[in-house]
Amino acid sequence: MSTRVRGAVVITGSSTGIGRATALALDRQGFEVFAGVRRPEDGEALRASASGSLEPLIVDVTDGASIAAAAARVREATGARLAGLVNNAGVVVPGPVEGIELDELRRQLEVNVVGQVAVTQAFLSMIRAARGRVVFMSSIGGRMSVPHLSPYHASKHALEAIGDSLRQEMRRFGVGVAIIEPGAVATPFWDKGLGEAPKARAAMGADLLAIYGDELDRIEAASERTAARGVPPERVADAVVHALTDAKPRTRYLVGTDAKLQAAMRTVLPARVFDRLIARELGT
Ligand SMILES: NC(=O)c1ccc[n+]([C@@H]2O[C@H](COP(=O)([O-])OP(=O)(O)OC[C@H]3O[C@@H](n4cnc5c(N)ncnc54)[C@H](OP(=O)(O)O)[C@@H]3O)[C@@H](O)[C@H]2O)c1
Repeated sequence: MSTRVRGAVVITGSSTGIGRATALALDRQGFEVFAGVRRPEDGEALRASASGSLEPLIVDVTDGASIAAAAARVREATGARLAGLVNNAGVVVPGPVEGIELDELRRQLEVNVVGQVAVTQAFLSMIRAARGRVVFMSSIGGRMSVPHLSPYHASKHALEAIGDSLRQEMRRFGVGVAIIEPGAVATPFWDKGLGEAPKARAAMGADLLAIYGDELDRIEAASERTAARGVPPERVADAVVHALTDAKPRTRYLVGTDAKLQAAMRTVLPARVFDRLIARELGT
């Protein structure tokens, strides 16, 4: 059984970025943290930065056997009571709708949507037993979309819908569900996205590259500018801590001025005016 004051939490994708910052913040807050990573060495690096109580957990959200083994370990260690689950793991697949490889679209949805549901299903009975909370790491990209990123936006819009449904399904059990919507955050995520670009270009072939190549260059340059403006991942960790600990948690947390501005503009502006602003920002 958990000996820490706040109880036990599970977080996925804690090797780097937001997941790592959040795992460490929850550890400092007195949670017993089960930190999901895919490689043992990432778990050991995290453990070295944490209190003695943080335990790495091998979880690939696309691998049912790894999820089942992780759930069994947490069940055994906590007496099947979990104060929180943070569904954070995620990847980004870029490319224009016309040129996306369908298997890449499937991979995007498999990691960012199906994987989140699979992990939630595996841990929900333990959350219910403790009247705990579930947090989904969405994005401002779950409320609005920009060109050449439709797989990612589709995944985050889907996650917002799943979070909304689950919140209503869990209401009668006293289980809270929160959705975190960061704007740009300074993490390896952006480099990984840019690292995917050559693969996306190769898949498009010469005809589509002749149509989209210049725009891709401008969008990649804009991504680098946006990444440079990212807030530290600890800002997102603060929102997760609030969602897991506050007596009156919010249903949604916009993190960063950019996310708040874009959400407001998306709500009040007509779609075509919003499109023009995005085009100006991206230089397309
Ligand atoms: N950075 C931003 O600007 C931003 C903004 C809004 C929302 N977000 C969201 O925040 C979340 C975390 O992203 P980040 O910015 O912290 O990026 P990150 O540093 O790249 O972290 C992504 C994490 O997801 C893990 N992951 C990827 N595929 C996985 C899989 N199949 N199973 C389990 N874990 C997997 C990665 O593990 P490996 O190291 O093993 O690959 C890594 O720990 C994502 O859901 C992202 O969409 C990020």
